[in-house]
Amino acid sequence: MAESERTRVRERGAPSLNAYEMGMARDQAWAERQKSGRIVVRLADTPQELMRQGYLRYYLDSGRRVLDTPLQNWSVFTHEVRKISGKHRHQGGLIIYVIDGTGYSVVDGERVDWEKGDLVLLPMKPGGVEHQHFNLNPDKPALWMAFIHQGMREYLASEVQQTEPSPDWKAREDQAGR
Ligand SMILES: [Fe+2]
Repeated sequence: MAESERTRVRERGAPSLNAYEMGMARDQAWAERQKSGRIVVRLADTPQELMRQGYLRYYLDSGRRVLDTPLQNWSVFTHEVRKISGKHRHQGGLIIYVIDGTGYSVVDGERVDWEKGDLVLLPMKPGGVEHQHFNLNPDKPALWMAFIHQGMREYLASEVQQTEPSPDWKAREDQAGR
């Protein structure tokens, strides 16, 4: 192929590579997801996993792994508090709804009790709020669901800093020699 022909081929292919075209393609993919994305995120498709903070089930993860739903900018997850969660610090401004059980959270050193049906609000403070969750019923885990908007997190410069891992996570990591 002559050099001039190769240049023409490159030019014909070029639009898909520029930022404007990529933006349009992204808009199109977004609009398509609104038409055909999963409206119901099913429990059966959403496994619970032991993570550094505890037993979490991510229905939405602000576009990390769940990519086929209309909404992409939310983190919505349940936390099954068996005994004690990990302890971490991040900015507040998020909502936690208690689905089941009784327990309490220690928020910047202050204990706040909650039970099934309650709404827990993490306040916004310079540097964020440190918090940890506890189940009060030895026979049954507590379960709550958090709703966090990613855009708000970014504008609040929120960053998760783990101050203590969940004891179950730590035990598993210790066993694995990590
Ligand atoms: Fe948290």
